[in-house]
Amino acid sequence: MTNPIHNFTARLPGIVYGGDYNPDQWTRETWLEDAALMRQAGVRLVSVGVFSWSSLEPADGQLEFGWLDEVMDILHEHGISVNLSTPNAAPPPWLATEHPEVLPTNREGRKIAIGSRAHFCPSSAVYRERSQKIARALAERYGNHPALAMWHIGNEYHTQCFCDQCGARFRDWLLDRHGSLEVLNEHWGTTFWSQRYSDWSQVDLPKPVMGNVNPARELDFKRFSSELLLDCFREERDIMRAITPEIPVLTNFMRFFPGADYTRWAAEEDAVALDIYPNPADAESHITAAFNYDLMRSLKGGQPWLMMEQASSAVSQWPLNLVKKPGRMRLGSFQAIAHGADAVMFFQWRASRYGQEKFHSAMLPHSGTDTRTWQEVVDLGQELTQLEEIAGTTAEAAVAIVWDWENWWAMEGVAHPTKLSYVDIVTRHFTPLWRRNIATDVITLDADMSGYRLIVIPNSYVLSEAQAEQLSAYVRSGGHVLISFFSGVVDEHDRVIPGGYPGGLLSLIGGRVREFSPLPSDERVRVEMRGSETDAGLWQDDLVTDGATVLATYTDGYLEGEAAILRHELGDGVVTYLGTQLSETGMDRMLDTVLADAQVAAVLETPAGVEAVERHGPEGSYLFLLNHGQHSAEITVPPGAAELLSGRVAVVAGDTLTLEPAAVAVLKRDRQPVADSRA
Ligand code: GAL
Repeated sequence: MTNPIHNFTARLPGIVYGGDYNPDQWTRETWLEDAALMRQAGVRLVSVGVFSWSSLEPADGQLEFGWLDEVMDILHEHGISVNLSTPNAAPPPWLATEHPEVLPTNREGRKIAIGSRAHFCPSSAVYRERSQKIARALAERYGNHPALAMWHIGNEYHTQCFCDQCGARFRDWLLDRHGSLEVLNEHWGTTFWSQRYSDWSQVDLPKPVMGNVNPARELDFKRFSSELLLDCFREERDIMRAITPEIPVLTNFMRFFPGADYTRWAAEEDAVALDIYPNPADAESHITAAFNYDLMRSLKGGQPWLMMEQASSAVSQWPLNLVKKPGRMRLGSFQAIAHGADAVMFFQWRASRYGQEKFHSAMLPHSGTDTRTWQEVVDLGQELTQLEEIAGTTAEAAVAIVWDWENWWAMEGVAHPTKLSYVDIVTRHFTPLWRRNIATDVITLDADMSGYRLIVIPNSYVLSEAQAEQLSAYVRSGGHVLISFFSGVVDEHDRVIPGGYPGGLLSLIGGRVREFSPLPSDERVRVEMRGSETDAGLWQDDLVTDGATVLATYTDGYLEGEAAILRHELGDGVVTYLGTQLSETGMDRMLDTVLADAQVAAVLETPAGVEAVERHGPEGSYLFLLNHGQHSAEITVPPGAAELLSGRVAVVAGDTLTLEPAAVAVLKRDRQPVADSRA
């Protein structure tokens, strides 16, 4: 449990506004100008020093804190708090030159050179010792500084390494996980292709091999790599906590990042922070953003989280970096708040003059204050001050969707019936819920499910016995689940669960799968559901029933006449099993049944493209209406609500609110119960 004093909102009430600040790229004169402009923009928090190691310690042991002392003081004098970073994400050139073992090695065995960032081996004792030393020095020097609000450890931890130091740690980790070499052989199925190990010295990292890698070893390596980085985070966190027990400690996560199991990471930090760059070229990027926001909120059980980085306009890391059109940055910011963020921050405050990201947008662009971006940044800062009462409130969902890193790693493993993308599959399950304005939490199958009426389980290929048991108990006691194909197939060691497919779910779905049957990408099959036809692709389970009723049937292809969807009443609950990948309309039609069964309702019905999300607090509920579309939309708003952004009292019964494209409304109304179709 997080200590409540570690909740960042306790130190920074209201909605926090700010961004990354890199003063070591600028002169003192600019710092003063920056601080004055930050005030003008409503900036309250800046992340400082994320990549400052070589400015803070230009040579081994030579600490130069003078410039940071001054920056901290200037910021404080201007009422701006600091999210002070430990600089481990970019070790200075001297460290790598004097101690080459701090550099990482890639899978092919090539040593990575300096000249960019994240060039460290997380197993290197020298790297750890030096990064901890400077972290400690920062904590000792600034722990009592009045500007200090939180610690930002490293940056977007993502390094993977295949050096001998990591090999040794991998063996230690494996011994710890499996207990003995004999058990490891069993869990990894090493009798296949004569991989049986007779001594620990033979066990190595998954370096390039002649054919396919052993999937169980690969899966363990991914677990290990996430844990190894987490160790680095934990060690620095503990230093900061020991010196400044009252200051929250966190790091920043990335959107859909496969390299770290954030479920495990979130448990180790005081608040969750996300960096997110929805691509303006992708007309649906706000939907995947919504999913990531729900995930961030759920990682710490609904606790407010920080949007730690976003772009004020274009990024610079893609081949084509489109600007955000007028109002879209504001819209995206309010979307994050709607999904539980209590901080809106940017990379970065002032656009850099040089380096890899000189054309990345910033709060203060190269062209200065006479720009659309600056105006939008200042306007948003102003507006956020009107939303103070929303900080600390949270979402309440009757539906949870399952997202699990271990499953992600395993289900995209080698030599499966077809290539599956977990992100794509989960998004296809999330999107129709999002389009209906169904509030959704994001959980793993280990989480407490008792508060939800419906659990949506997209392709949970890995299923442990404990998870299967929990799921079964949940359904029997009245829960509803929707499970899609290629679920419950293997145990946590990627070994097929015996007894036929889906071994882990046989007692749940009221049927079984005789054979997996993937479809070529250009082939569709027809599916009949409740008297009308839709289509499906990618995959077909050859399903037979055993207690379930058939909700949909194939009407062509070699499985013509066979079941595509099963509905199984079990105890007081219902399991719906989807054996294919339905079209959008098909998915929608199936959800009509599933949501009605589970008695789950939308927060509000809105025209296409308009998102409705609600946060709830002791003083009331806050309904966010966000027009992501390109046309103005008319929305019938609930009675008795006041619009917070304009101050306009919006509502009498049946009143209509018009939202222009990219516009946002926040309606305050009496505290609402979780959306329920019985209500
Ligand atoms: C983030 C990173 C920042 C900056 C930004 C550019 O992933 O943390 O340092 O590189 O991307 O969009």
